[in-house]
Amino acid sequence: MDLPYAEPYKIKMVEQLKRSTKEQRLNWIKKAHYNLFNLASDNVFIDMLTDSGTGAMSDQQWAEMMIGDESYAGSLSFKKLKKTVKKITGFKYFLPTHQGRAAENVLFSAMVKEGNIVPGNSHFDTTKGHIEFRKATAVDCTIDEAFDTSVIHPFKGNIDLNKLETVFKKYPKEKIPFVILTITCNSAGGQPVSIKNTKEVSELCKKYGVPLYFDAARFSENAYFIKKREKGYENKTIKEIVKEVFSYGDGMTMSAKKDGLVNMGGFIALNNKEVFKQATVFNIMFEGFITYGGMNGRDMGALAVGLNESTEFNYLESRVEQVAYLGQKLVDFGVPVQQPFGGHAIFLDANKFVPTIPREEYRAQALAIELYVVGGIRGVEIGTVLADRDPVTRENRYPELELVRLAIPRRTYTNNHMDYVAASLKNIYDSRNEAKSGYNIVDEAPIMRHFTVKFEKI
Ligand code: F0G
Repeated sequence: MDLPYAEPYKIKMVEQLKRSTKEQRLNWIKKAHYNLFNLASDNVFIDMLTDSGTGAMSDQQWAEMMIGDESYAGSLSFKKLKKTVKKITGFKYFLPTHQGRAAENVLFSAMVKEGNIVPGNSHFDTTKGHIEFRKATAVDCTIDEAFDTSVIHPFKGNIDLNKLETVFKKYPKEKIPFVILTITCNSAGGQPVSIKNTKEVSELCKKYGVPLYFDAARFSENAYFIKKREKGYENKTIKEIVKEVFSYGDGMTMSAKKDGLVNMGGFIALNNKEVFKQATVFNIMFEGFITYGGMNGRDMGALAVGLNESTEFNYLESRVEQVAYLGQKLVDFGVPVQQPFGGHAIFLDANKFVPTIPREEYRAQALAIELYVVGGIRGVEIGTVLADRDPVTRENRYPELELVRLAIPRRTYTNNHMDYVAASLKNIYDSRNEAKSGYNIVDEAPIMRHFTVKFEKI
């Protein structure tokens, strides 16, 4: 018999979760104006809002916290982190930042100008936000397979080389500061990018003289998929794969709250000395002196350990397979989810789950609310609410997919929690035909409305 995967750690400390009744939750969600972001976390039983900064640190990381060097300049924790980033990514230069979007802010301040074009694979919201804030345009070159939740493709985060070359031919290279490759591709459902595709994108970038940067928030999970799915990589270590992936690019931005296994932090790593010099100025302006960049010394130490731990196969196997464990349970119950399963989350397909609720009534949001009411489980809508209104017509933009993301924090929940989530969803699925109406928006911000939007029940 093949031995199953098992967590390569045991639990030293636990955090109490509060149970609640359906009546309490109905009351709380109403008071929260049916916006899950407004819920107090102790009114949530299983929190799947995000996998960002919500994971558990190891005893080794906590030990580093105790010996963190809080010196303003020349911190030893900085030195430790810099050495680890160099060892793991291979990039020459390094700047710490307080989180991922701060890394984007600093790097893009140095590189992105008004009128620029930044091609990539379904840019994450903050990445796109920082591009558009500079009056530049993000062009999505993801392969078409990514937009159909039922198409099985091993690397749905891949870039379509024809789409990319079309952009390269249409605009002069001076207008394209870089291509950004997000690994894994969060906005496409935590889907990986193959090493073959990375290499081909890199070659095309070189041909047209455009640098390639990674949005590397989930680079370890991406490497796990390469090892499992790509021919020739099954016997390589995760650290070898990671090194090879990064060798095809010029630099990276990192939200360390994901595969850094810390609760807060980020960085930029890159090879170009001139870009590093320019970014350094912005880092000092926005983040702090270059040897802390918005991070505590102790957090930099914990991140150095986290980067080593997240690039270990046994950890990644238990991490990614737990996500798949939940996904498979849901598939067995007939619940429509995006396939293949992503690295950090399972995505419910609300168009297939509750087609009875009109799209104008925010069916994915309605499903997310129902999951909270039934099970005390908090997911997040990735659909019409998130897509905002068209800036010109002010009409709702209806994206192709209406999803509810169930993100799984790292090293935090057990498979019993996953069973509980799956059972809650089965019960909702079994009575799905009773769902006829959704919600109206009664108040919203002009952009990024999902954080503060207020709804009323129809
Ligand atoms: N890039 C990707 C691919 C991300 O998923 C995120 C954050 C960021 C950049 C920004 O990093 O939050 O540290 O500033 N994603 C979180 C999520 C918020 O829930 O998916 P940050």
